[in-house]
Amino acid sequence: EGRFDFVVVSNRLPVDRVVEADGSTTWQRSPGGLVTALEPVMRAADGAWVGWPGKPDVEVEPFEADDMHLVPVSLTSGEVERYYEGFSNDTLWPLYHDVISPPAFHREWWETYKEVNERFARASAEVAAPNATVWVQDYQLQLVPALLRSLRPDLTIGFFNHIPFPPYGIYSQLPWRRAIAEGLLGADVIGFQRSSDAANFFSAVRRLFGYGTRSPEIRVPDGAGGHRSVIAKAFPISIDVESFEEVARRPEVIERARRIRQDLGDPATIMLGVDRLDYTKGIGHRLKAFGELLRDKSVSTGDVTLVQVASPSRERVEAYMQLRDEIELTVGRINGDFSTISHPAIAYLHHGYPREEMVALYLAADVMLVTALRDGMNLVAKEYVACRHDEDGVLILSEFAGAADELRNALLVNPHDIEGIKEAMLQAIEMPKRERSTRMRALRRRVRENDVARWSQTFLDTLRHVGHR
Ligand code: G6P
Repeated sequence: EGRFDFVVVSNRLPVDRVVEADGSTTWQRSPGGLVTALEPVMRAADGAWVGWPGKPDVEVEPFEADDMHLVPVSLTSGEVERYYEGFSNDTLWPLYHDVISPPAFHREWWETYKEVNERFARASAEVAAPNATVWVQDYQLQLVPALLRSLRPDLTIGFFNHIPFPPYGIYSQLPWRRAIAEGLLGADVIGFQRSSDAANFFSAVRRLFGYGTRSPEIRVPDGAGGHRSVIAKAFPISIDVESFEEVARRPEVIERARRIRQDLGDPATIMLGVDRLDYTKGIGHRLKAFGELLRDKSVSTGDVTLVQVASPSRERVEAYMQLRDEIELTVGRINGDFSTISHPAIAYLHHGYPREEMVALYLAADVMLVTALRDGMNLVAKEYVACRHDEDGVLILSEFAGAADELRNALLVNPHDIEGIKEAMLQAIEMPKRERSTRMRALRRRVRENDVARWSQTFLDTLRHVGHR
């Protein structure tokens, strides 16, 4: 037992390693949405955050950063390979995203996933005060809720799944489908992005265990003839809307947006994609659509430029290496065919950028392209909307991203339908100013209503309710 009343557990700690001038290393908080959302809760409740520092084979002692107590869980490089790159990102990730890429099933990966989940559960059990609330995040840690409950029955346990939960026909491929579902059912509240994800989980629980469900409640036998009730429902995540808007209003960021347009040769339309370089994001589909528009002369280089930021991600996983080759081949072909000396068809950037630069890009973009084949939420769509205080810009949004449940005033597309993406691109390019503002105003209202503080409050309120039984 420890001293913290509120404990967040996630695969990654919200920190970056900083190397000082004298060569020593320290850790600095990294500005993620989740941290921003949980900061007030952490401060009010004396909180701790349990997670992996993001590098293999480093042993770091617990430390404080901005009123947060950080508890590092170390992973060896073998564990990173089998638990993180293997089971999390080469089994669960593709399986939970509609098997867009074939998932690999390896028993050694599963063994390591169990071991690492046990380590996270023990670390959390050690820092949590009596009757504390523990909030476990995401698919890398699905066994932690039940493990933690068996170590510490006094705790109130929440779990939030940031990615989709697949239909049973797909979920049932998983050789460890019962163990994973049992792991999740150790929580008091299980949060999903969309109501369809929650519905998929209900159907898995019925098919696997035959438990009684009456949405949002699942009655799990407690082994002593009674039941525990588990709440499973949608809590769509969001962003810190105000902080994005604040950055977007800074004069130097507005100036930078103007500069970006100029540097691109002042095209009439800038289209923008911003994604981790991941096969779920439908980057190839949008490139194909754009390439065809150029080929059939519906648009021309110089009038329309596509900026594609593809930030490096999970680069040691084979499917990601392959994707990179495919995307870069396609970009190279399109640029070779359609760029001119002064105007690129596609500005392709394989980098991550600081928040200010991203916001300037959002401000510069007349059309934002979010064409994910499957996505839990897609926060880029919400960030774009939050930044557009000028009430301009058109969002093209995949109906397979969780954000499509809320952002109904976007141009919704089926990314598999290349003709459909082409039509939406042309519609966006030609959309009259008045329609752009009407749509953007409606989008902004929606995004403001549900920001990330509201998300965490709603989840934690639900947890508090069931916790006091
Ligand atoms: C998704 C997942 C997160 C993950 C992030 C970045 O958003 O839901 O859990 O942290 O991708 O991926 P990485 O593997 O670099 O942590």
